Amino acid sequence: MVIDATSVICITGASSGLGAACAVQYAHRGATVVLIARRADRLNEVAEQVRAAGGRAHVIVADVSREEECQRVIDETIATFGGIDVLLANAGRGNMASVEDTPTSQWREIFALNMDAVFWCTRAALPSMRARGRGHIVAISSVAGRYGHPFNAAYVAAKHAVVGFIAALRTELVGSGVNATCVCPAGILTEWADVTEGGSIGALYGAAIPKSRRIAQELGVELAPLSRMMTADECAQIIITAVDQGRCDDIFTHEGTKPIAVQAVEDRNAQEDRFEALWRAMADAYHEQRG
Ligand SMILES: NC(=O)c1ccc[n+]([C@@H]2O[C@H](COP(=O)([O-])OP(=O)(O)OC[C@H]3O[C@@H](n4cnc5c(N)ncnc54)[C@H](OP(=O)(O)O)[C@@H]3O)[C@@H](O)[C@H]2O)c1
Repeated sequence: MVIDATSVICITGASSGLGAACAVQYAHRGATVVLIARRADRLNEVAEQVRAAGGRAHVIVADVSREEECQRVIDETIATFGGIDVLLANAGRGNMASVEDTPTSQWREIFALNMDAVFWCTRAALPSMRARGRGHIVAISSVAGRYGHPFNAAYVAAKHAVVGFIAALRTELVGSGVNATCVCPAGILTEWADVTEGGSIGALYGAAIPKSRRIAQELGVELAPLSRMMTADECAQIIITAVDQGRCDDIFTHEGTKPIAVQAVEDRNAQEDRFEALWRAMADAYHEQRG
């Protein structure tokens, strides 16, 4: 789909990170960008950047982990601008807890934001997209939606659910003119790893990675290479190019991650074995932190 000054892009989680980066890149084409998140001050800063880049900005403060808020933001966007060309269901947050330590409230909050919000926003946007015979739904999952990672099972399960949801949605969109794409990034340099519920998973990786080198030596195994951290701008560019090309396959933004996902499908034990030293180091670091 050609995105230009006539296009309307609706972005959840637009107050920082990947959502903000996509907003500004779309603004360079003159597009109208609807910016959705909870922090009004940060949304207004992004709105200024969008206008400075040549786009139109419309801010909606909302908590998309609530069904009625998702309906409200989509209804307001369609009522104001007549339709949505790209719905970027991007808002997300991780958690940091072992399965035994995960309270039900945390499990539910992580699902509500990372999975339910994608469903609620998509369901609200679809009738208008179908009626116009065009539109692109882009859901941000993660490599955590394709293979396991320790100490954030709620997030991993919710991101796997997003992959399944978009796969099912695509089978319903055949012949409609509406596309749906799932994006599976690895590490992006944003606030994400520091604001995980229950503690910083970024700090856990930071403590575990040096330990994993020692453990790998002790076990006599090779460490699986970690993919390079990407900037939000780099990741946004890959997503926007995929939408331009009308790609509706699953997008792996980081080099080397798709083969790991394929290996997890073909031989999950072998995939897990490659990361054993890191998973052991993370267990050590987690239990040291929790005391
Ligand atoms: N960073 C990574 O390494 C990485 C890797 C793979 C996938 N991802 C995924 O990429 C997406 C973007 O994350 P990011 O890296 O850009 O992190 P980020 O900078 O923390 O951005 C998260 C965004 O989600 C919004 N958000 C959180 N809770 C919300 C709620 N209840 N209602 C509305 N908005 C809410 C935040 O805004 P407010 O706080 O203002 O509401 C913020 O704009 C997420 O889905 C994340 O899971 C990230």
